[in-house]
Amino acid sequence: MTDEQYAFVVVSNRLPVDRVVADDGSAAWKQSPGGLVTALEPVMRQADGAWVGWIGQPGEHVDPFDHDGIRIVPLSLSADEVEQYYEGFSNDTIWPLYHDVIVPATYHRQWWDSYVEVNQRFADAAAAIAADGATVWVQDYQLQLVPRMLRQARPDLVIGFFNHIPFPAYGLYSQLPWRTQIIEGLLGADVVGFQRVADAGNFSRAVRRLLGYTTKSPYIEVPATASTPERRVVAKAFPISIDVGGFERLARSPEVQARATQIREELGNPNTVMLGVDRLDYTKGIGHRLKAFGELLADGRLNVEDVTLVQVASPSRERVETYRQLRDEIELTVGRINGDFGTIGHQAVNYLHHGFPREEMAALYLAADVMLVTALRDGMNLVAKEYVAARYDEDGVLVLSEFAGAADELKTALRINPHDIDGLKDAMMQAAAMSRAEKRKRMRGLRKRVRENDVDHWSRGFLRTLAEVHEGGDADTDPLGDLEWTAERPPLP
Ligand code: G6P
Repeated sequence: MTDEQYAFVVVSNRLPVDRVVADDGSAAWKQSPGGLVTALEPVMRQADGAWVGWIGQPGEHVDPFDHDGIRIVPLSLSADEVEQYYEGFSNDTIWPLYHDVIVPATYHRQWWDSYVEVNQRFADAAAAIAADGATVWVQDYQLQLVPRMLRQARPDLVIGFFNHIPFPAYGLYSQLPWRTQIIEGLLGADVVGFQRVADAGNFSRAVRRLLGYTTKSPYIEVPATASTPERRVVAKAFPISIDVGGFERLARSPEVQARATQIREELGNPNTVMLGVDRLDYTKGIGHRLKAFGELLADGRLNVEDVTLVQVASPSRERVETYRQLRDEIELTVGRINGDFGTIGHQAVNYLHHGFPREEMAALYLAADVMLVTALRDGMNLVAKEYVAARYDEDGVLVLSEFAGAADELKTALRINPHDIDGLKDAMMQAAAMSRAEKRKRMRGLRKRVRENDVDHWSRGFLRTLAEVHEGGDADTDPLGDLEWTAERPPLP
């Protein structure tokens, strides 16, 4: 144990800060873009919080430090651990398996050993700084063993886990050679949160099949052992969201609006701008989207002088082979479409292989008439929610895959099955031709839902359930349903 003790500890693979090196060589830490830290920042400040995570570079050691009122506790990973725990087990075993094996999952025993070791290191780091009775919130698939490891070391803690990606049906999950250990790892938490009701159901089913425990949604009864008492774990859906107010404010700013106009001008002021924004990942259905767009141009239903597709594909996990192959495939397809249909001055696809700051993203959303989210499987898809948050003008059409978690909430989007290329093409045409009145009606429905459930609601709903369960009360059946929309934040946890 160290002297430092914190009442609220978040544990995630990546820290919520990135190191930026200035031109003069001096380094500083900057908050990473993303909703999680925005949502947890107020709770962190109020509750004396610390965040445990990896710095993102192999082999580096950084001492704990304070950043904007949050204690940052960096963990270092060796180059071998990055290869085996992060690129291997997390992103070449669990990631494809949990996304319905869109590409085959690879099973390597050494990767598993490294996953166990690194999870133990995260658990030890959190256990060392958690105050007596503290709340520890573990995030995502890279750290599924941490809840149990923490409970073994520190039975006094209140432990939550949130899975940001899908949890697969048992028929697929059962492939995993370490399926029982993972389930047991997760059951160390008091509350295991998922994006969709279906994910929580898949998890409970796996628990019944593998361990034979009694489940009655949302509860899982974990029997007593020689050394631990009987426990009741809650497994249920808490759909994550974004900082809706922050995104809308950004979109309303004169600078972002001017940039949106400029983007359209730079694209040659086409009638219709279509937009895709994704990490370059095989789960996102970028190839399906390009196929549909290319066919519409080939069929003559779309004309390159009228319509442009902007595809932002931010680099991701580039040392994993499936990601390398995907990049090659996508870039070949973009090149073919542009070669076949582009004219001087009119490019069919504007392909951008980099990430952009939030301001530029907001401007792109405002500039886009049609937003294409064609994921083959996606935990939530926050890009869909960002687009809706940015469209305060109630314009624009969201084309949304039914295989993205966001489809459970965003009912008035144009829903598509990305495998059905003809259906996708028709939806793209429908979106391009949609009347202003219908766009407004649909966008209003989307905005209502997104405003009701922003990321602050999400974190408060989860933490409230966690507090209730730990106190032995009933888990709220719909923690997102009855939370007041308020700027005032009661002390949490
Ligand atoms: C998904 C995962 C996150 C992960 C992010 C970026 O959203 O749910 O846990 O951090 O992708 O991936 P990376 O491997 O770069 O952290």
